[in-house]
Amino acid sequence: MATRNILTKEEPTLYKTSRPVKVFDARLHQLLDDMAETLLQSGGVGLAAPQVGVLRRAVLVIETNVPEGEEEKIIELLNPEIIERSGEQRGAEGCLSFPDEYGIVTRPMEVTVRAQDRYGNEFTVSGTGLTARCFCHEIDHLDGVVFTSLCERMLTQEELENGQIEE
Ligand code: NI
Repeated sequence: MATRNILTKEEPTLYKTSRPVKVFDARLHQLLDDMAETLLQSGGVGLAAPQVGVLRRAVLVIETNVPEGEEEKIIELLNPEIIERSGEQRGAEGCLSFPDEYGIVTRPMEVTVRAQDRYGNEFTVSGTGLTARCFCHEIDHLDGVVFTSLCERMLTQEELENGQIEE
């Protein structure tokens, strides 16, 4: 495994549409393993392939809603599609490609995603709260959509410093 460079906001690749994953081979597994290492080292909760310069429909999301004592696990999603969404959450969101920038984005509170695993097997997975937000955010990356285009506003320096959002 190796870490890969995370592209930042000025890179045109971030705004392009990714192609479906069709071949579930060792090269794909290498990409996913590298993305996992990159994500774990970054301290983020999700990473999309275009963020490491690969325009393929592959994302990783860390499921953080786990019972105490259990390890957080990385969910690999190939060709993911949101098939159900419900509720609403409004809150601060950031992105590894936009270091130190956060904005208010409204997302569904719960989503269900249909995707394929690294061997091509189809599965569905649901997430709530931060996990739901992360599914939406990462899947948006596959269509070249970044969170700043969905923000109602960015957080101010003051809000970032005191950790409180002024309504
Ligand atoms: Ni992002």
